[in-house]
Amino acid sequence: MRYRLWRIGVFLVASVPPLYWLYCAVFNLLGPDPGKVLVDNLGLGALILLLITLAMTPLQQLTRWGGWIAVRRQLGLWCFAYAVLHLLGYVLFIAGLRLELVLRDLSERPYIIVGALAFVGLLALAVTSNRFSIRKLGRKWKALHRLVYAILLLALLHMLWVVRADLGEWLVYALIGGALLLMRLSAVASALQRAGVLFRENPKKIEI
Ligand code: HEM
Repeated sequence: MRYRLWRIGVFLVASVPPLYWLYCAVFNLLGPDPGKVLVDNLGLGALILLLITLAMTPLQQLTRWGGWIAVRRQLGLWCFAYAVLHLLGYVLFIAGLRLELVLRDLSERPYIIVGALAFVGLLALAVTSNRFSIRKLGRKWKALHRLVYAILLLALLHMLWVVRADLGEWLVYALIGGALLLMRLSAVASALQRAGVLFRENPKKIEI
């Protein structure tokens, strides 16, 4: 397999933060509200991994190095894994395993509803990230995986609701996300232009 060491390195680096946070929780190093710290760290980790995953295609286009694309799926799955742990942490430490509280949050709290929508989107991408789904869904697979940009917007909105008073950190992620979205849009626009969709009457079939 190509880029084997690079893939293993990425795997190891991505697995360190949750293990470190678990260690801190076991040895009481997370302060007076360890559950909340874990939930926040895992949520932020999921968002950062989403941004890193989205940066892989522009990096490949800039550097022409295939290693970025070789780890893109793995990074997307890591983002999902962090989001699963984030959700479990919420159910366990914030809702205290009370199902009625989770259901109430899901129907009343807009930031939880938005987080849940982002999570469902990530779930759809994770379960269809295998070769079988790519083959089975054909062109629909690409359309489905473009959902990732909507998921990014939902995740940013979810975070904005949580950090309302402290916008500094949120702005950094929002600007990076906005830049990645713009790069994607300009790549789509130039592909359409190349194929003549924007300026010609009979466009060729195109792959974006
Ligand atoms: C059903 C799904 C989800 C639930 C129930 C949920 C719940 C929560 C809760 C309770 C908090 C902490 C609120 C506080 O500190 O008071 C939070 C924060 C956060 N969540 Fe989620 N979340 C979900 C999905 C997601 C997803 C899919 C992402 C990202 C991809 C995400 C990213 C974040 C971020 C970035 C924060 C802020 C962390 C910080 O304060 O540094 N969440 N979420």
